Amino acid sequence: MVVRDYLIRNATDRSGKRIDVVITDGEISNIRSAGDADTTRFKPDTQFDAEGSLVTPTFSEPHTHLDTAMTVEKARVNDSGTVEEGWDVWASVREELTKAGAKRRAKKNLEWFLSNGVTRVRTHADVTASGWAAIEALLELREEFDPIDVDIIAFPIDSVVDDPDTLDEVEQALEMGVDIVGGLPHKERTRERGVEHVRKLVALADENDARMDFHIDETDDPQCRFTEVLVDETRRRGISSLATASHATALHSYPNTYASKLIYELSQSDVSVVTNPLANAIVQGRYDDYPKRRGITRVDELREAGVTVGIGQDSLLDSTYQYGDGDPLTAAHMLAHFAHMNLRRDVGDIWDMLTYGNADIFGAENYGLSEGDEGSLVVFDSSDPFTALRTRRPRKLVLRDGKPVAKGSRSVSVRSDDSWDELTLDL
Ligand code: FE2
Repeated sequence: MVVRDYLIRNATDRSGKRIDVVITDGEISNIRSAGDADTTRFKPDTQFDAEGSLVTPTFSEPHTHLDTAMTVEKARVNDSGTVEEGWDVWASVREELTKAGAKRRAKKNLEWFLSNGVTRVRTHADVTASGWAAIEALLELREEFDPIDVDIIAFPIDSVVDDPDTLDEVEQALEMGVDIVGGLPHKERTRERGVEHVRKLVALADENDARMDFHIDETDDPQCRFTEVLVDETRRRGISSLATASHATALHSYPNTYASKLIYELSQSDVSVVTNPLANAIVQGRYDDYPKRRGITRVDELREAGVTVGIGQDSLLDSTYQYGDGDPLTAAHMLAHFAHMNLRRDVGDIWDMLTYGNADIFGAENYGLSEGDEGSLVVFDSSDPFTALRTRRPRKLVLRDGKPVAKGSRSVSVRSDDSWDELTLDL
């Protein structure tokens, strides 16, 4: 990646302050009041007039599945809409996929993410498919696709306990260059096997100094309680800061007494949580009569307790979730609705989760909008965080280390009489 000097003029930060952001050698070297930066240092193609638009650090996508993405047209229909049938449908299609196809689909998804201002992606990849087509495709793509840092999770969808090969497959993936140990304990046949699943994978991660990100308690079953095992195992080993509990939707359905205990235990650890509101809004509650639960984890109570909570995109166009556009604002918009985070005072929390929360899950350093931080920034097509979230317009400009890597625009006109009126910003 060639780093650049770049100037963003006349932008607005999240607090409403008008600023110029000066980037030197790929890092933010100076933040001035708007109009104060020396524009003569920069050629026309290395400066951008934000015209008052919002600027933030780039997004980090903490939970997606680049291997399953865009396979919905190849698979049979998921008739029940459950995540369990989603796994079955994936198992029936995964063996037919080629490395070239996997790479093409994953690249398309990375381009979607980049266009929306994402410069870090953490993707799960099924290691229990026979062959290594998807893993090899992602490892190659990671080297070739510069603008996004891609972390890959070895995701064991088949049983870790019943099939002795599964643990070997996770280990082999790590040897191939995969970064993170995944897990899926609630898919094991019994509670005891699920506990064993967590213990084996945490031990493997510990041996390899690897981070962990488990699909965990992604059910509506209030008896499904593996997050407590992940917290306990990682705390005991002193590696809880390396662990993420993804989904944790059963926390929605736990009795308050147990939920309170688990949230306390999480708060005493450094385990982070990722909520995936798009997929979980439709795969949870599938076994309910009316009223139907929506299974978003307890974001407000977790954050209140000081737990880092990120927002993920999860599946894109696959057998579990056939919508999805690679835009963190789409997931955040869904969260605002299903987590009752729709008040104006919630806007700041949502943006904290989207930016600093998600970056924290990656262990990102030099992340932020201060001098010395990485020069990776997004200029939105709105002047304030609420309107950017409400309208979710194409991003005007995305910079990675001072280099423009995406730009977009939207122009829409309406006619109510004889003249066309272009819709203005922040309508
Ligand atoms: Fe997932």
